[in-house]
Amino acid sequence: MNTNLTQKPHPTAVSQAWQALESHHQQMRQVHLRGLFADDPLRGQRFTAEAGDIFLDYSKNIITSETMALLVRLAEGCHLKQKVTAMFNGDVVNVTEQRAALHTALRMPENAELKLDGINIIPAVHAVLRRMAVFSEQVRQGGWRGHTGKRVRNVVNIGIGGSDLGPVMAFEALRHYSQRDLAFYFISNVDGTDFQEVVSRLLADETLFVVCSKSFSTLETMTNAQSARQWLVEKMGNDETAVAKHFVAVSTHAEAVAQFGIAPDNMFEFWDWVGGRYSLASAIGLSTMIAIGPEHFYALLAGLHTMDEHFRTAPLAENLPVILGLLTIWYNNFFGAQTLAVLPYDQYLKRFPAYIQQLSMESNGKGVTVEGSPVNYQTSPIYWGEPGTNGQHSFFQLIHQGTKLVPCDFIGFCQSLNPLGKHHDLLMANFFAQSEALAFGKTEQEVKADGVQGDLVAAHVFPGNRPSNTLLVKCLTPATLGQLLALYEHSVFTQGAVWNINSFDQWGVELGKVSAQRIFNEMQHPDLALAHDNSTNGLIGRYRQLK
Ligand code: F6P
Repeated sequence: MNTNLTQKPHPTAVSQAWQALESHHQQMRQVHLRGLFADDPLRGQRFTAEAGDIFLDYSKNIITSETMALLVRLAEGCHLKQKVTAMFNGDVVNVTEQRAALHTALRMPENAELKLDGINIIPAVHAVLRRMAVFSEQVRQGGWRGHTGKRVRNVVNIGIGGSDLGPVMAFEALRHYSQRDLAFYFISNVDGTDFQEVVSRLLADETLFVVCSKSFSTLETMTNAQSARQWLVEKMGNDETAVAKHFVAVSTHAEAVAQFGIAPDNMFEFWDWVGGRYSLASAIGLSTMIAIGPEHFYALLAGLHTMDEHFRTAPLAENLPVILGLLTIWYNNFFGAQTLAVLPYDQYLKRFPAYIQQLSMESNGKGVTVEGSPVNYQTSPIYWGEPGTNGQHSFFQLIHQGTKLVPCDFIGFCQSLNPLGKHHDLLMANFFAQSEALAFGKTEQEVKADGVQGDLVAAHVFPGNRPSNTLLVKCLTPATLGQLLALYEHSVFTQGAVWNINSFDQWGVELGKVSAQRIFNEMQHPDLALAHDNSTNGLIGRYRQLK
């Protein structure tokens, strides 16, 4: 493991900007947000930015105008603008897989043109969207009938990683807009419990399985899909022809889908230039479209596109994803922060932190540059989080008074989708209170003025100076969700561009997969001698005995 992770990337402009930030950090580590706000009464207006329907207040960060200027200089030195153009143009930015990363093309309007290898890919994108819309309406309106002639009541998405987290996050986020006489379920884990606990509640003849897998070879998804198929066929009196009315597939691999027994008519395609964790706007969003309807799904795409266009065209200093990305670098690489908390104050966004976790950590959890040399600086922080106010009664203690610096993103909405008495004002009062308390804390003097005395004073002091961003949006809609998703996608891109890493591959998931296959084989053949290390041999041996 590389232990000297505080140095700069290599090219001269970058190293100069990096050094300037390092010496600037020496000053900034002495300042307190209390002082920064006292010195600049308009700070809360100065450090704000807006794009689409998203308002960002980043004034509660340990920054000055100089910090932001230096960070932008760093981004320029890393050719961020050129890298953005390359991604949007379809250049091979995923160098280790020799692919473009064109998720932004999935959100482009029908009349747009984007050529990849000389072919305009937008018509194909919209052709699939139209097929998805027709199919979704059939399911929603009851035109799509199951094998016994019953309409679909349950939609079960089978997938994992990006083929699960996008659909489940979007369904939960947009549940308010969903058709309530349809129930949605998500099976991802290879643990049979995930499968059993879902299907035990369902009537097979009212159930539609949407098998989502870019590769159509992922162990978990294929195992769950086979079990689903077996379950359905058994429930249908061992009639294999039932599969046609109860299974559809979303994949880039038509052959593997056909081999599984799903007809081409029941397959919705996407393309290898869409990364798994960037695939929600592709046919991977089929279950979302069935839930919320084509019109809302198109609004989600339009929201994504709004933020794409902002990212592509806005100057770096006013660019929301760039600002978020650079602030992440500021804390990660200069303050040594290890993590970043994503804190949506909206119950509908309960899976949003998990989605952002895969997006960020699978994209930027890398240790080599695009040229293949080991990095000698930190890359992605650990993203984590829970919705507010639940988190306040669990881990917020550490963020307020612990020894670790945890930059926070607070995400809140001015209007509730479920107005109920004082609930929303109470929720949002907590939302505003937390970032205020984190920034300004409570001094010893203030604690004493409250009547706390003696040994108790120290425990009641809040140091403050704990940075946060506030993302404030009028209302959670398909369009604003789209904007939020693209905001984080492009923040992740900005970070990867500065760290000079490939944000679009994920080789780090391979080793464990290969090893698991070998061990699985050893479990199926208990007579096979084990040739792992002493610990792994012992553990597998014990499992063999006790299973
Ligand atoms: O775990 C790695 C990964 O490839 C993710 O990047 C991806 O989202 C997930 O597996 C699922 O892959 P697939 O859609 O091919 O089944």
